[in-house]
Amino acid sequence: MKILAIETSCDDTGIAILEILGDKKSPDFKILANIIASQVEIGKKYGGVYPMMAKREHEKNLVPTLQTALREANVLEKDINLIAVTNGPGLEPCLWVGVNFAKDLAKKWNVPLIQVNHIESHILVNFLPQAVIPTKAGIQFPAIALVVSGGHTQLILLKKIGSYKILGETRDDAAGECFDKCAKILGLSYPGGPIISKLAKKTDRLPMSIQLPRPMINTKDYDFSFSGLKTAVLYYHQKQDKKTQKSKKYITEMCAEIQQAIIDVLIKKTIKSVKDYKAKTIILGGGVSANAELRKQFLEKFENVIFPKPELSTDNAVMTAITGYFHRKKTVAWEKIQADANLRIGK
Ligand code: KG4
Ligand code: ZN
Repeated sequence: MKILAIETSCDDTGIAILEILGDKKSPDFKILANIIASQVEIGKKYGGVYPMMAKREHEKNLVPTLQTALREANVLEKDINLIAVTNGPGLEPCLWVGVNFAKDLAKKWNVPLIQVNHIESHILVNFLPQAVIPTKAGIQFPAIALVVSGGHTQLILLKKIGSYKILGETRDDAAGECFDKCAKILGLSYPGGPIISKLAKKTDRLPMSIQLPRPMINTKDYDFSFSGLKTAVLYYHQKQDKKTQKSKKYITEMCAEIQQAIIDVLIKKTIKSVKDYKAKTIILGGGVSANAELRKQFLEKFENVIFPKPELSTDNAVMTAITGYFHRKKTVAWEKIQADANLRIGK
């Protein structure tokens, strides 16, 4: 079967085509197309994502992105057996563009439509062999998923595909949002995560003069809070003189410390959840899981951790397609599908 997937939850317009051969027990996946029309240049210009602006870009990008995907995959409309679309969570105006586009296609092509949860897709992309560097043990249940993106930071217990319990989440800013806001404070570009990660590499961090807080690191729950870290960065930065604020040494040290503060909290809470729930695998997903230092430290701390290749950690429609495949029996009449900005993966 061939699945066409559409993802517009934030500022990337993604369309992918996934082919599935073989039988249910040993499916053979082939990514025929993975097209992303990125709005990163607009984000750079305006210093972030503005939902109405992002919505207009999706409207402009969807038709050409679809044409490119079909051409690249070398398939015709009539070859598509299922359409999968992200219907939440995300930016409401952006989600609606994708959902309405998918509904139009489903109606016009007379193809079944399935709605996909964006958080679940950040997790399930790890079940696509091409998306990951396989671990020796593979994915075993129960598993703990840590989804860390620009909009979300959640620790989720997976009993199996489709059975999720949110153990904890951020009470304010998401980890990616913290990277982005801290970068802005330091006068760096957007998105902040990749830039902070790149600059952080340039310091050996010794001696470290800057020490930032690790909010909620010792609390007994599985929740996070990153807005205090951002505020600490702001106050620390404001106290520096202009020359220091621009100095390479200061900026690189600051980046390394911001990154480490975020990683420390993520690792500590993940360790706690893994112990408490006797998890056999840790699954990472979301844009922040593309962070090289985070990956390295998770690999050092856990025996069986899996994460997508960096280009599939950030938003894409391949993950929407594989999630649509796992839930292919749950198609809904296209008239009934709605965008839901606050959609939750579990209780
Ligand atoms: O999953 P994603 O593409 O979109 C959302 O669903 O939000 O995540 C985007 C977030 C941004 O905040 C970005 O700064 C962060 O992921 N990000 C990173 C890295 N690459 C992207 N954060 C840290 N290190 C990276 N290498
Ligand atoms: Zn995402």
